[in-house]
Amino acid sequence: MDTSVSTHSAAPVLRVTLITGASGALGGALARQLAAPGQRLILWGRDTGRLAAVASACSAAGAQVEALSLDLADQAAMQAALAAAGARWPIDAALLVAGQGDPVPPGLLVEPPDQVARLAMINFAATAALASALAAGMAARGDGRILIVGSAAGFHALPHAPAYAASKAGLAHFAQALRLAVAASGVTVTLVSPGFIDWAGGGRPVPRLLKISLAEAAQRILAAMSAGAGHAIIPRRFALLRLLDRLLPGPLRAAALRRLRP
Ligand SMILES: NC(=O)c1ccc[n+]([C@@H]2O[C@H](COP(=O)([O-])OP(=O)(O)OC[C@H]3O[C@@H](n4cnc5c(N)ncnc54)[C@H](OP(=O)(O)O)[C@@H]3O)[C@@H](O)[C@H]2O)c1
Repeated sequence: MDTSVSTHSAAPVLRVTLITGASGALGGALARQLAAPGQRLILWGRDTGRLAAVASACSAAGAQVEALSLDLADQAAMQAALAAAGARWPIDAALLVAGQGDPVPPGLLVEPPDQVARLAMINFAATAALASALAAGMAARGDGRILIVGSAAGFHALPHAPAYAASKAGLAHFAQALRLAVAASGVTVTLVSPGFIDWAGGGRPVPRLLKISLAEAAQRILAAMSAGAGHAIIPRRFALLRLLDRLLPGPLRAAALRRLRP
């Protein structure tokens, strides 16, 4: 799947982008939108079949592609893979998309502790650690873009998905702090907080007003990253819901949140 870069001096400079969660719906859509001649895509995911399908679609669109099946819970493997990729080609942009969204399992009052720990690890710890390592390398070179996919769930204390909401809230805080830390070094950090993304297989009965299509989500995310935006909420209506959550008196907010279902 990997193809080598020509070392001829007249060869065009390749833009190198790392995408985590590339085997998933959103990561795959972002990879496909970015794929073009002149792009080198480093695609990470776990499911080798879905990863290979995305990789071959990107290759067919003219991108140079390197795909790696990797569990982000394995910190040592992740840092080693990042160092190896960075040693081959400096990474210009990184889209940190991987995440897990498990709610409280049916029939249980709260999440099992191993689920809480897993979501905290993948959605927050592993993604934040990766962003930090990328930011350090990019800052040393004085250029780079990091895109972190959070969730509008991070704005609300969701009783049906406490670990998901909290992991995305922590990730949002981290992204905003990292952005400030590297602002003067030529590196931008963009947080995107999607509401509901509509894709075949997503399967959630959600009012149309609260959804955004997968293609539009990918487009808006790439636009936010290239503009170097600090935070994009998609669709915008979720910014209003966040405001409402902040303004409602505590008992009303609690009653509304308790009525929500996964
Ligand atoms: N879909 C929505 O409505 C929505 C809304 C708000 C935010 N988001 C966020 O958007 C991101 C992508 O969501 P999606 O809808 O595209 O979900 P998805 O199709 O389930 O994709 C999730 C991706 O994360 C990867 N991943 C999960 N655990 C991993 C691990 N331990 N190590 C490495 N990779 C791992 C998956 O890899 P494998 O499949 O190969 O295991 C997959 O590529 C997530 O961060 C999610 O929280 C989604």
